[in-house]
Amino acid sequence: MTIVSPSMLSADFSKLGEELVRVEKAGADWAHLDVMDGAFVPNITFGPPVIKAIRKLSEITFDAHLMIEDPIRYIDAFADAGCDLITVHCEAHGDIHGAIRKIKEKGLRAGISINPETDVTALEEFLPEVNLVLVMTVHPGFGGQSFIADCVPKISWVKEWAKKNGREMLVSVDGGINAETAEVCLKAGADILVAGSYLFKMQNMALAIAQWHGV
Ligand code: DX5
Ligand code: ZN
Repeated sequence: MTIVSPSMLSADFSKLGEELVRVEKAGADWAHLDVMDGAFVPNITFGPPVIKAIRKLSEITFDAHLMIEDPIRYIDAFADAGCDLITVHCEAHGDIHGAIRKIKEKGLRAGISINPETDVTALEEFLPEVNLVLVMTVHPGFGGQSFIADCVPKISWVKEWAKKNGREMLVSVDGGINAETAEVCLKAGADILVAGSYLFKMQNMALAIAQWHGV
């Protein structure tokens, strides 16, 4: 079944805890937490203290997407804050292999993410080490952008690689996901749909999630 991971970036930050509970009650499988440092991307969101605070309110899987430089410096803090899965970017500076190793040493699942302009082959050196690939279908930094369809072949490329190499590999898509673009991604083999503005704008988030679960 498709895993649905609503992006909390589109939540009302003045009541983030309540929003998390709303997402969980709507039937979401995971909660996607977009961490931005103002350096890797031109925006700043939240970090471990906020994640730790909302962790107490829900049992849902915390799917952290670190859009930060030199992520190895912060893995301990994000793991201790209660993240279940941590994804780092292949374009980030610093020791990315070391960051992945550290995530796994902490007993968490590790993901690698790729920006729209990065060639898919940049993932190759990381694939043997990760549990998940997060294919960005917008330029990271902001919610509410339009889906970049050129990124879709990366989904099937990763699924093919996993098959050829006998590896379990979840593929997640992030950016501009709505009813139509979700279908395109699922057809290409995506396992996880990350969606922010589309889900949070819905009157009935539960219905949209149920529809994706039914696909
Ligand atoms: C963008 C983030 C996304 C974002 C998606 O940098 O990684 O998770 O919240 O938002 P939508 O679904 O509105 O494109
Ligand atoms: Zn994200």
